[in-house]
Amino acid sequence: MSVDKITTVVLREMKKREEKIVALTAYDYYTARVLNEAGVDMILVGDSLGMVVLGYQTTLPVTMEEMIHHTRAVSRGNRRALLVADMPFMSAGVSIEETVRNAGRFVKEAGAEAVKLEGGAEIGAHAEAVVRAGIPVLGHIGLTPQDVLVLGGYKVQGRSDEAAQKLVDDARALRDRGIFALVLECLPAALAARVTESVDVPTIGIGAGPACDGQILVLNDIVGMYEGRRARFVKVYADIGKSMKDAVGRYADEVRGGVYPDAEHSYQ
Ligand code: KIV
Repeated sequence: MSVDKITTVVLREMKKREEKIVALTAYDYYTARVLNEAGVDMILVGDSLGMVVLGYQTTLPVTMEEMIHHTRAVSRGNRRALLVADMPFMSAGVSIEETVRNAGRFVKEAGAEAVKLEGGAEIGAHAEAVVRAGIPVLGHIGLTPQDVLVLGGYKVQGRSDEAAQKLVDDARALRDRGIFALVLECLPAALAARVTESVDVPTIGIGAGPACDGQILVLNDIVGMYEGRRARFVKVYADIGKSMKDAVGRYADEVRGGVYPDAEHSYQ
């Protein structure tokens, strides 16, 4: 879509027009610039930061300070995309006051234009308070990685009739609380289609099949820059990790062999 700036209103119009929303994560200035040049509609500074950039085993240790630092960097490289910051584990959901204050820090200190909150109807009051404070909220239901200890692993959600109905109810409850869009992670495709039809806000799928209004993936996964477990839904479009290893290996060989620097790369 050829608009100068993607806003939450533009995303809602895209759903109405059945135009797919393209979203990706980013964690630094350069990548944000690349995503803008490629016309990505929404950039999420995900707390996946913890696993793909900071080397944690889960997203649970990620702090507000780490998220703010990286959101600032992305914000400097972003122009057109809607910039969403992920609220890390324990920064939202403890008390409403704390949730609103932390959400506000992302906007005031880091240049975010919205925040993402993991959880269903149970965090509805928190989402509503953040929206009332003037900060758009992106919901996130299904597999919510911050609940990994309770869920017992990263598994497809909503397999039973009861669990599926709960996800539809969660989506409606969050819509009623004012979220502008909803991430659906790791759901059977038919259930994601049902949720997408049940709400008038856009759904952004990750491992949730083709019927969602948009798709999001972790950038490092699609460009081969992460060596951890790769979920079935991840499609790899480039192997930058391998290119980087090749380049570093050649550089090391040339330094050791006295080939680099040569005359061309030296000042006479
Ligand atoms: O942290 C993250 O990157 C996410 C998305 C991939 C939805 O939550």
